[in-house]
Amino acid sequence: MVSSIIFENEELKILDQTLLPLEKKYISIRNLEEGCEAIESLRIRGAPAIGVMSALTIFIEMKRLYQEKVLNSKEDFYYHLQISLEKIGNTRPTAVNLFYSIETIRNEFKEYQFFDIEEALEFLKKIAIRIWKEDQTLCEKIGQNAQSLIFDGAKILTHCNTGSLASSGKGTALGAIYTAIEQGKRIFVFNTETRPLLQGSRLTSFELMEANIPNTLITDLMVASVIQNHKIDMILVGADRIAKNGDTANKIGTLSIAIIAKYFNIPFYVLAPSTTIDFTIDDGTLIPIEERKESEVKEFLNCKSTVKDVKVYNPAFDVTPSHLITAIITEKGIFRYPYWFEK
Ligand code: MRU
Repeated sequence: MVSSIIFENEELKILDQTLLPLEKKYISIRNLEEGCEAIESLRIRGAPAIGVMSALTIFIEMKRLYQEKVLNSKEDFYYHLQISLEKIGNTRPTAVNLFYSIETIRNEFKEYQFFDIEEALEFLKKIAIRIWKEDQTLCEKIGQNAQSLIFDGAKILTHCNTGSLASSGKGTALGAIYTAIEQGKRIFVFNTETRPLLQGSRLTSFELMEANIPNTLITDLMVASVIQNHKIDMILVGADRIAKNGDTANKIGTLSIAIIAKYFNIPFYVLAPSTTIDFTIDDGTLIPIEERKESEVKEFLNCKSTVKDVKVYNPAFDVTPSHLITAIITEKGIFRYPYWFEK
């Protein structure tokens, strides 16, 4: 399984996902600016991966500031920690895992007393590593928990990319497929292209082919026809933010698939770690939806594909109401409608 994040000897590298599947290139993240740029440009993407990467980036940035003698006192440390957390929090608004990492670091430092900066850096590194390792464990548990729903011979449809590229472990929805294969189940996957940035055709197809999992790529609007003609057994998707009532923000197009699944009466499952649940909001109307650049829709593989001045609407996510979700699978178990998640 390909790793999206490498953290070794206090150096952070990510696989540049904008180059996939044509080029497999790891790039170094040496400071906050590079970390923010990597998240904004989707060199790293997927809710859990963004969360992990942001925690590690904060450590990298604070270490750099210390080495460059910018941090000379506790006040300097707290000031720059605060600024860095704020900056990284402004990169992408929807995936709540980013804010989980930010809040975890903030809360840990609230109680923490330290004598020198090196000690504080060590503490920060430990928190970031804990978030990173925790994500791997959560993915593993989600995969295990989903197995009672995934039977031998299942034909599964998935959307966007939810595998090892989207997390620091094996992933969520795709992670459960990996676990099913490890258990010897025969699984067939249909995956959507995922316009406009092609996380499905560029990344999920890449992961499925690398893992030798039988798969077929379709364009987003083929979903209804494929369900009608190919006897899809279930839909598995990930999530970027889940409200307390189970309303789920995920890659644009997820809502359409959930509606189609309801029409054809097939189960629609959301798989996500509890770090994707926003315990501060009651329902999906409060989830901020990222709107991205027009050029992502007006260009296709760097070629202009529309007339110059055409107006574009480009929300990166949509919200699926919880009544359309058959079950939400987290590391804690399988939850069914009606949902109410509390910390
Ligand atoms: O814009 P992206 O590529 O970051 O969107 C990713 C998704 O919507 C995924 O489905 C979601 O983050 C779950 S990843 C395990």
